[in-house]
Amino acid sequence: MMQTTQFEDMKEGLDYKYYCEGKWKKSTSGKTIPIYNPYNNELVGNIQACKKEEIDRIIQCARDNIECWKDTPLNERVDILRKAAKLIRDWAEPLGQKLMKEIGKPIKSAISEIVRTADIFEGTSDFASTLGGETIMGDAFEGFTREKISMSYRVPLGVVLCIGPFNYPFNLTGSKIAPALVAGNAVVMKPSTQGAITALHYGIILQEAGVPPGVFNIVTGRGSEIGDHLIGNSGIDMIAFTGSSETGKSLARTAGMKPLLLELGGKDAAIVLDDANIELTVKSIVSGAFSFSGQRCTAVKRVLPMPKIADKLVEMVVGETLKLSVGDPEQNNTIGPLISSKQCDFVQGLIDDALEKGASLKCGNKREGNILWPTVLDNITTDMRIAWEEPFGPVLPILRINSAEEAINISNKSEYGLQGMIFTENLDLAFNIAQELEVGTVQINGKSSRGPDHFPFLGTKSSGLGTQGIKYSIEAMSRPKAVVMNLSEKGKLVRECKAGE
Ligand code: G3H
Repeated sequence: MMQTTQFEDMKEGLDYKYYCEGKWKKSTSGKTIPIYNPYNNELVGNIQACKKEEIDRIIQCARDNIECWKDTPLNERVDILRKAAKLIRDWAEPLGQKLMKEIGKPIKSAISEIVRTADIFEGTSDFASTLGGETIMGDAFEGFTREKISMSYRVPLGVVLCIGPFNYPFNLTGSKIAPALVAGNAVVMKPSTQGAITALHYGIILQEAGVPPGVFNIVTGRGSEIGDHLIGNSGIDMIAFTGSSETGKSLARTAGMKPLLLELGGKDAAIVLDDANIELTVKSIVSGAFSFSGQRCTAVKRVLPMPKIADKLVEMVVGETLKLSVGDPEQNNTIGPLISSKQCDFVQGLIDDALEKGASLKCGNKREGNILWPTVLDNITTDMRIAWEEPFGPVLPILRINSAEEAINISNKSEYGLQGMIFTENLDLAFNIAQELEVGTVQINGKSSRGPDHFPFLGTKSSGLGTQGIKYSIEAMSRPKAVVMNLSEKGKLVRECKAGE
């Protein structure tokens, strides 16, 4: 498992290097950033704090390799991605172990994040093989003839900057790298600081798979220190980012006219109608709210139940929540540490605010280290912060409603618009409500989630810009190039319509 000499080049002791020109390098800043296991505070390793001049060099290196990669035939790029997928799959276990230590994700979910990434690399290869353009005749508009023909095909954008989040540091960088590379772009990846060690392994994986040196590069450092320098750099042609809405908005201001693909926050509401299948609804809500301790953009972040089902629903949700295991991610407990104590303080602040304003605590509200016990709050009202703010932690607010219209209003009043859910047996009504919700996706009788990864995944309002998903990401990272043939009319065949006998 994971046998290649490159692992020796990648780090010295616990110091991981950054990756540029196909080589592992130490920053001349002499500074590193420690990464601690959020569960037990043990040092996992240190990453390089790259300097601005090093970032410029990395971007230049990617630029210098745009042409060689663009000219590599698509079938060869696809082949390389398939090899990368195989390596990722073969190394799922050790990479999952690293990921678990670095971000505190339960071990099974950590390994499945890696496997899911291999699936994305394969799916991207499959779709890219069918990528084509279109041919359009000019005669749809008056004054033009079929002698004017537009032929278009897709070309890469240049250098794509892929910035991933801490909660899926391997998968949500991979879901950007694969489409960027297959479309023929050179890539600069900036992983989130927490999660960077696992993501740095792309340097090894892609080199082993055959990506030429310099086509794929990795820069590490604190976003607060180097983010603007990266984003504003004129050598970057497109940015794909996953992270908070606040950072996404600031990124968009700095990026200027660069094309953007942004996956940001959410406040996904589950509308539960009186006739819902209660077992299915409870299961979906509890796993949707609490997997990875609620640290998912698509977590169920509000429940809006109708009056007749509300009491039973709350009782069953609390019952299921109390069954969730809490503790060490290595033992695969569902609830583990949040990414930082600062994040725990923030979530606790939301809970305290709700309780001060009269919410009913049904379970949870206990903290040990970075672990917050899964917390269910009933009788949430719209003056409470938890009704609107995204916790990114294990807290589930229940806002009881009296009508579908009220549910639609509360859902839509959010600054976010990632996904919505409707639980009901009445599919006609579900479709009508779905049409009213101002979100990227509505799940009927299912929890909110990004996958499967060939589905379109997008958010409205503060939840994002552009559409992800295998086909959509490739499209976002390429553009049509049209060549128009203007034929002479010399060879035109002239035929007249014949009147009937
Ligand atoms: O955190 C944001 C992710 O895109 C959520 O993905 O729904 O598969 O957990 P997921």
